[in-house]
Amino acid sequence: MTGHEVRYRPEQERDHAAVRELHARAFGYPDRVPDLVDALRAAPAPLAPVSLVATVDDTDGDRVVGHVMLSGCRLDALERLVAVYSLSPLGVLPEFQRSGIGTALIGHALSAAEAQGVPLVFLEGAPDYHGPRGFDDAERLGFRPPSLRNVPGAFQVVRLPAYEDWMHGTFVYSDVFWAHDCVGLRGEQLRAAQQAGDR
Ligand SMILES: CC(C)(COP(=O)(O)OP(=O)(O)OC[C@H]1O[C@@H](n2cnc3c(N)ncnc32)[C@H](O)[C@@H]1OP(=O)(O)O)[C@@H](O)C(=O)NCCC(=O)NCCS
Repeated sequence: MTGHEVRYRPEQERDHAAVRELHARAFGYPDRVPDLVDALRAAPAPLAPVSLVATVDDTDGDRVVGHVMLSGCRLDALERLVAVYSLSPLGVLPEFQRSGIGTALIGHALSAAEAQGVPLVFLEGAPDYHGPRGFDDAERLGFRPPSLRNVPGAFQVVRLPAYEDWMHGTFVYSDVFWAHDCVGLRGEQLRAAQQAGDR
């Protein structure tokens, strides 16, 4: 959908229901991703979460059409643990997709991470989408994925200015991702993604 002026701002409490609805529609599961977002907002983590929304003007005010979240995780480096961000989830309402909102949300999220002096932002996602938006193959750069259920190329990272050469090791998700079984893929989803990668 085009022709709307899209604005970007930090999420507020009044947006929570709209963010739930957005991820249910974007991902196509009623609760899995919305429950992850609710838990990430509430959980203790090594870094405060960053939660940003994209909005368009509506008759009742502004309407949430996109959302991205950064939440604190850890890199298990030889020297010490490093506080890093996971970029997850990212979602845009289906009728607003393909107009640059997802790209802009990633850009705002990376700027927020950089402003906080965070060295690394990790995610697991489609390399064809995230590669042109600044992410590199994390395994190729020497980082270890958080699980064996990792699809080649999906584990990606952005190195920000605070990154230093010694910061290598295993990416460790916060417990919320494990509690919601939102690390890597599993079962049929994993098999399908691996088969697609083999072709
Ligand atoms: C992925 C998502 C956030 C992109 O949002 P968006 O606002 O449509 O993104 P943009 O407009 O910035 O970019 C659109 C482009 O990305 C492409 N794209 C979208 N999903 C993609 C994917 N999984 N793999 C490769 N390319 C993808 C689109 O085809 C489009 O390409 P085009 O410009 O050549 O037409 C959105 O499609 C979405 O919410 N998907 C469901 C939730 C999801 O899968 N999130 C995790 C992302 S790994």
